[in-house]
Amino acid sequence: MKKPIVFVTRQVANEAIAYVKEIATVDVWEEDRPCPREILLEKAERTDGLLAMLTDRVDEELLSRAKRLKVVANMAVGYDNIDVTAAKKRGIQVTNTPDVLTEATADLTFALLMAAARRITEANRFLLAGQWTSWSPTLLAGQNVFNATLGIVGMGRIGEAVARRAKGFGMSILYCNRHRKPEAEQAVGAQYRELDDLLKQADYVVMLTPLTPDTAKMIGEREFSLMKPTSVFVNVSRGGTVDEEALYKALAEKKIWAAGLDVFQKEPVPLDHPLLTLPNVVALPHIGSATYQTRMEMAKLAAVNIRAVLEGKEPVTPV
Ligand code: DGY
Repeated sequence: MKKPIVFVTRQVANEAIAYVKEIATVDVWEEDRPCPREILLEKAERTDGLLAMLTDRVDEELLSRAKRLKVVANMAVGYDNIDVTAAKKRGIQVTNTPDVLTEATADLTFALLMAAARRITEANRFLLAGQWTSWSPTLLAGQNVFNATLGIVGMGRIGEAVARRAKGFGMSILYCNRHRKPEAEQAVGAQYRELDDLLKQADYVVMLTPLTPDTAKMIGEREFSLMKPTSVFVNVSRGGTVDEEALYKALAEKKIWAAGLDVFQKEPVPLDHPLLTLPNVVALPHIGSATYQTRMEMAKLAAVNIRAVLEGKEPVTPV
């Protein structure tokens, strides 16, 4: 019997590739940049399984050409790069990689929150520029993290993991979500709030909601105007959940105090983006889950999902 063909759109852990190779012919895009669109479309035509990254657009155009495709395994928990409805219509299974990245992403969320609150990157730039001439009572003063109020927008697994960290800092935890989470309320004492109330009460607003038509630009000018002038806004979900122009205005006009951003509407964020000109923005290149161990686990889970579908079994983490 002919082996199925799997296309892997970036170099991922060898263990993951080896596991798929046991049952399939594996073709890997070896270059250290996303596979160009034209090549991805051509590869998809000859592929039974696609191990994709969040930078690969798996849309109607691609799916209509991918006549043999049975499974798209996204190496990410988010899957807004995939037209899941179009895939399902064609009987193509979509999978993602939840759970394995929860703790690493929560660590990064907290690091970003603290860096923005305590002006870590600004202080580092200040020192390296030779501006540190003496200690001063107000030099690079930031905001308290301990005992502050954290507002989590999107209380999924990562939200709960962030809440566990916040508990260690004595923070009060508020959350809003499509539905209430009694387990989270029990485990970390989180209290449910409608979005507007959360925005008014929180010292830290952390975005952890997936990007969907309902959450696109859910935080804009009106929402920023509800937040405290001392508040810090952190986005580790997707850039599309926030109106970036409104965020820039809120920061520049001191409606809010600082922002920590791991994600942007357009990635990589252009270097002339207005948000990058502000000293009170800590900007990172979408590294939420980027630890060696976690990326290894994500690749392995994507491989297990691909192989399961190609062997006619249920994937572990279907979308
Ligand atoms: C995800 O998995 O969706 C993250 O954004 C990747 O780091």
